[in-house]
Amino acid sequence: MKYKSQKVAYWFFASAILLLSLQIIYGFIMGFAHMGYDGLHSITPFNTARAVHTNLLVVWLLLGFMGAAYYIIPEEAQQELVNVKLAYVQLISFLVVGVIAIVGYHLNYWEGRKFLEIPRPLDWLVVVNVLLFLGLILATLYKGKKKTTTALVLAMGLLFAALLYLPGMIWFDNQTLDSFFRWWVVHLWVEGVWELIMGGILAFLLIKLTGVDREVIEKWLYVIIGLTFLSGILGTGHHYYYIGVGKIWLIVGGIFSMLEPLAFLAMALFAVGMYRKGEKKHPNKLALYWTLGTAIISFVGAGLLGMAHTLPQVNLYTHGTLVTAMHGHLAFWGAYGMIVFSFITFALPNLTGRKLYDTVNGQLAYWLSNIGMAGMTLAFGVAGVAQVYLERKLGLEFGAVQKEIEVHFFVLILMATMFSTGITLFIIEFFRFGKPNDEAIGFEENLKKA
Ligand code: HEM
Ligand code: HEM
Ligand SMILES: [Fe+2]
Repeated sequence: MKYKSQKVAYWFFASAILLLSLQIIYGFIMGFAHMGYDGLHSITPFNTARAVHTNLLVVWLLLGFMGAAYYIIPEEAQQELVNVKLAYVQLISFLVVGVIAIVGYHLNYWEGRKFLEIPRPLDWLVVVNVLLFLGLILATLYKGKKKTTTALVLAMGLLFAALLYLPGMIWFDNQTLDSFFRWWVVHLWVEGVWELIMGGILAFLLIKLTGVDREVIEKWLYVIIGLTFLSGILGTGHHYYYIGVGKIWLIVGGIFSMLEPLAFLAMALFAVGMYRKGEKKHPNKLALYWTLGTAIISFVGAGLLGMAHTLPQVNLYTHGTLVTAMHGHLAFWGAYGMIVFSFITFALPNLTGRKLYDTVNGQLAYWLSNIGMAGMTLAFGVAGVAQVYLERKLGLEFGAVQKEIEVHFFVLILMATMFSTGITLFIIEFFRFGKPNDEAIGFEENLKKA
């Protein structure tokens, strides 16, 4: 790291991986419930576990993005963060809101809107928090010596993500309207502006890790943004097929969402291309693996597995089944989970001044978590396809079908155990690095000279 204030990123990353652990526990609760072992039902029924699982996911990913921004923006802008104390206040208040929300879900204080379960009064606290975060990031960028494309793309992604939270806060008495605008948040986040955040972080990592010229890397960013907006905005239509809006969305949603994988393909080609072109001298090879892995697995999980059920003719049968869970897991993990892990792997040595890269634990964490998640995806996929045939084609009753497919969740639990072992090793490595310290300033530059 180059600036003292970048250290704040460490605490965002530590909070992120702790919340990920909690998310995984709720995943197991649901996995066992699917197998027929729903012993915790009276304390954490499936719907509560599901809301907690997906909300923790969003919260830890946002913490990861915020941490990355607190690290990247000062370095790119060549300017200390304008106010470090407020950054800590922002972290703590964000965690407090998160905890209130999750405790609330257990007490039935929630809204039944998938991913947006947070009750509206709490939304206002989120708004204040995010304004503080954006204020710090944008003021630092504004005051800084340089405004690089990478920093601007990242900041734009964060700003748009905040703005797109607002349509989800409007109250509608009409179910269709509520659903229509819920997708402005959920879809336009993961298939729109979060891709800018991902692109910005990816570009920063590739500049650092491959040594390829900034100009070359940043040119790709424009291509990625172009493809994202071209396909992703109207691609929202793939959620409007059968929710009670006009038929036009069948065609618009079908065509544009089929184009969405192109943006992820561009990211994969970009990362692999820069890797091959680069001089590969950076000693933190593990960070490079994570970065390449992100670009490739996000193409598979989001691009290919998204495409698998995005046409209206297919979605008619697969909507809301475990086929969706199959895609949801590999997409969220491959794109956003992995970009956060890539960044943490890159930043830890620089924040702490310790050269703990390329350890056996670190390598195992990489392979076990990724192979485990691929296996989980497969288990969800098999269960999902069986569900679609039995429930939607043969017309069997929902509960009866869930009983038939219980067996597939044995494989899910097995693979989830492998995934969790990888995550545990990652967390052990994380804490082995120790705390960030000022002696680490200039660590990266010295590495290059050595
Ligand atoms: C990183 C990017 C992506 C992530 C994180 C992601 C994640 C998800 C999640 C969690 C859902 C379930 C949402 C809900 O029901 O509330 C979903 C639904 C869906 N996704 Fe994605 N997705 C991504 C990209 C894509 C892409 C590129 C496509 C198309 C090519 C796609 C196609 C779909 C479709 C068609 C559904 C609706 C499934 C249904 O009807 O139940 N996704 N996605
Ligand atoms: C070991 C770990 C995990 C287990 C056992 C697990 C299990 C589950 C289960 C059983 C569901 C509910 C499916 C249903 O509605 O029937 C679910 C939902 C979900 N999980 Fe996980 N999960 C794990 C980790 C993760 C991770 C690491 C991520 C993201 C990076 C993730 C993202 C999601 C998403 C997005 C959904 C909602 C899917 C949908 O909309 O259909 N999970 N998980
Ligand atoms: Fe979507």
